[in-house]
Amino acid sequence: MSADAPEETAPYGSGNRTPATPEGAPSPRRVRIPHLHAMKAEGRRWAMLTAYDMYAAQIFDEAGIPVLLVGDSAGNNVLGYETTVPVTLDEMVPLVRSVATAARRALVVADLPFGSYGASVEQGFTSAVRLMKEGLAHAVKLEGGRPMVPLVQALTGAGIPVMAHLGFTPQSEHQLGGYRVQGRGDAADALVDEARALQDAGAFAVVLEMVPAPVAARVTEVLAIPTIGIGAGNATDAQVLVWSDFAGLRSGKAPRFVKKYADLRGTLLDAARTYAAEVESGAFPDAGHSFDS
Ligand code: KIV
Repeated sequence: MSADAPEETAPYGSGNRTPATPEGAPSPRRVRIPHLHAMKAEGRRWAMLTAYDMYAAQIFDEAGIPVLLVGDSAGNNVLGYETTVPVTLDEMVPLVRSVATAARRALVVADLPFGSYGASVEQGFTSAVRLMKEGLAHAVKLEGGRPMVPLVQALTGAGIPVMAHLGFTPQSEHQLGGYRVQGRGDAADALVDEARALQDAGAFAVVLEMVPAPVAARVTEVLAIPTIGIGAGNATDAQVLVWSDFAGLRSGKAPRFVKKYADLRGTLLDAARTYAAEVESGAFPDAGHSFDS
């Protein structure tokens, strides 16, 4: 091919960036926090999924998932760590940007990773600003109860929407003694109070992870902002799942609260084995996938 001839195919590795809205078609309306609050008022439930890259973001956006979370669960779902604890802000920023750039309609929430906000309000503020300016996030999420109130106030006061996260908070798993249900028995009242304090500080929603269903129902009842459950029963206003769990990518046992909606691991295993066999036998590439001249 001469240097100035048009390319015959998309350049290798050009991917499939979110296409511009076709001429004449209405742009999809971005989901915004007042929409989520209206859904709570109307008793309409919604689903949130994690996403860490462009393709997942495009697909879930097209499926109408209103909120995408770039969780620090990237640690044990993308980056190869055992937990979320080692994840850094530098690692989060490009993942957040790829999701935020690909999602045309969904509200994109970015997790503040462990160690990026717990030292002071100033530290948390600076980290959140990075996720918004460099990551292009629409909101941030942080873990923790009452001690987080000053930071939530500072962020929301500066125009940075905050999603809170109570119950089992994976960043504190060493302190909590492992993956354990939180808010049982006497701890239930404290959890309800913490949720109220975060709402009063300005949080727009709260994730409830591994909380007994009746306790999550109580929080949902007393709060005006949406609750998003994961392992918290079905009375919350919304649900969230980690996408690699929901799509069946994980090889080991998933937590009890995960429902597998697809078997992508099986599908990809079959595809990779078939591809390898076809290359070995010479069946691929065939004439339909080659250039004769
Ligand atoms: O990091 C994450 O994916 C989360 C969800 C499980 C809520 O915090």
